[in-house]
Amino acid sequence: MFVPERVWWKPLSRPEKSWLIIALVWCLFLTAMMPLWFVLGRQNVPAETYTVTPQQYREIVDAFTAQYQVDTLNGVPVVEPPAGSDVYLLARQWQWYPILKLKKGTPYRLHISSTDVQHGFSLQPVNLNLQVLPGYDYVAKITPTQAGDYSIVCNEFCAIGHHLMASKLIVTD
Ligand code: CUA
Repeated sequence: MFVPERVWWKPLSRPEKSWLIIALVWCLFLTAMMPLWFVLGRQNVPAETYTVTPQQYREIVDAFTAQYQVDTLNGVPVVEPPAGSDVYLLARQWQWYPILKLKKGTPYRLHISSTDVQHGFSLQPVNLNLQVLPGYDYVAKITPTQAGDYSIVCNEFCAIGHHLMASKLIVTD
């Protein structure tokens, strides 16, 4: 008759021990990097939020657009606000409004809100992504580092015209 060994576990072999130590150190390193990267990484957009009604936000954006409009592109106003000022972007089904023209190397306070449903602000190719919610004015401090035309797409499904919700952001030298 076959009798299984009562003590079947053996002491860890050397390579097993080494790999366990490597795995543990790696886990500790990754765990430490989560809070560290929040401080050291440059990927976090400093943000403030305020509550605002869709009606209030629309009025702010309309006044801002009327004051600084310099052009029109595909029926959407192009707005060139003063360097370093508060700039406003409105998301709605299915448009980004207005088109912002910013200066390279200048800090701006970019306000974003929606007047209907949730949208997703995605700036390409730099891959800056922010949630856009009705009722909240989200302020991101941004400084464009390179001149050119950037694409803005919506990356949050917002019903039938979602795929049409694209625009651009212009950065001049
Ligand atoms: Cu707006 Cu999808």
